[in-house]
Amino acid sequence: MSSMMQGKVAIVTGAGGGIGRDIALAMAREGARLVVNDLGASMTGEGANAGPAQQVVDEIRAACGEAVANTDSVADAAAAQRIVTAALEAYGRLDVVVNNAGILRDRFFHKMSVDEFDAVVKVHLYGSYFVSRAAAPHFKEQEAGCYVHMTSTSGLIGNFGQANYAAAKLGIMALSKSIALDMHKFNVRSNCIAPFAWSRMIGSIPTETDAERARVERMKQMTPAKIAPLAVALASDEGRGVTGQVFAVRNNEIFLMSQPRPLRSVHRGEGWTPESVARHALPALAGSFYALDRSSDVFTWDPV
Ligand code: NAI
Repeated sequence: MSSMMQGKVAIVTGAGGGIGRDIALAMAREGARLVVNDLGASMTGEGANAGPAQQVVDEIRAACGEAVANTDSVADAAAAQRIVTAALEAYGRLDVVVNNAGILRDRFFHKMSVDEFDAVVKVHLYGSYFVSRAAAPHFKEQEAGCYVHMTSTSGLIGNFGQANYAAAKLGIMALSKSIALDMHKFNVRSNCIAPFAWSRMIGSIPTETDAERARVERMKQMTPAKIAPLAVALASDEGRGVTGQVFAVRNNEIFLMSQPRPLRSVHRGEGWTPESVARHALPALAGSFYALDRSSDVFTWDPV
């Protein structure tokens, strides 16, 4: 066991499987004591099962690490508070929160129901807020703490049929930046990772055409374990000074993602009318308009 996270206590939400499980295992290998949270829900957020969280705890303990299981839902304020309380009761401290729990309810926007929108925003955006907010007083008091939130290129760039998920994931980027700004003076850091990993979440991608099948084969190389090293490094003291950033990880590639800044401007001393906007401003800005890209239009090469 190495020791980049020796003495630290970490909560990883949704750590019963996929990316969260590998982050929890990697943090435990680096000496962290873990709260392995997972509701044990289906991919669409239905049901609950204590099995997955406990299994990961058993794996960590079998490798001589320390972990406790928690099966509260991140999507409820009181339950999220209990996740933080579980860390404080088990270990008396909390250093790291990894907001990773997630569900999908994909549907084209014009067919997406209120329930489908609400359920996804509740788990991702509210869930990240609830757990972060519950941890914030402790981080402030000890003048140290670190958040790592899972965002997605679905929100940062775009994808079909994911208005609920994309809205939540871009919201998480803003949440992370806001936490980074507001809590910087307490030595609290907050960063996002947009992961690419073959897990049950993308196991539902259609494989009808040859191109789709080839794409899925490439994606299978991107194991969830490839996300963990960046999460561990950010959560460790080696990550000091890194805050308010958005990273992406795809197999063996790590990206620093851009954040919106003005691209081009137009100005008229006398001000604008709708007509002058249409005739002057829009054509002048058009050279910098973005194409209607999806994530796969930007990440066009095979995972390295
Ligand atoms: P996964 O479905 O394998 O894992 C998510 C876990 O969250 C599950 O074990 C589930 O039981 C748990 N969960 C769901 N609702 C919960 C709740 N209310 N409270 C506590 N736990 C809950 O998914 P995967 O792929 O490992 O995704 C992890 C994170 O990474 C998610 O936030 C996802 O949006 C994000 N992500 C994943 C990508 C990928 O390529 N796999 C791409 C972009 C983002």
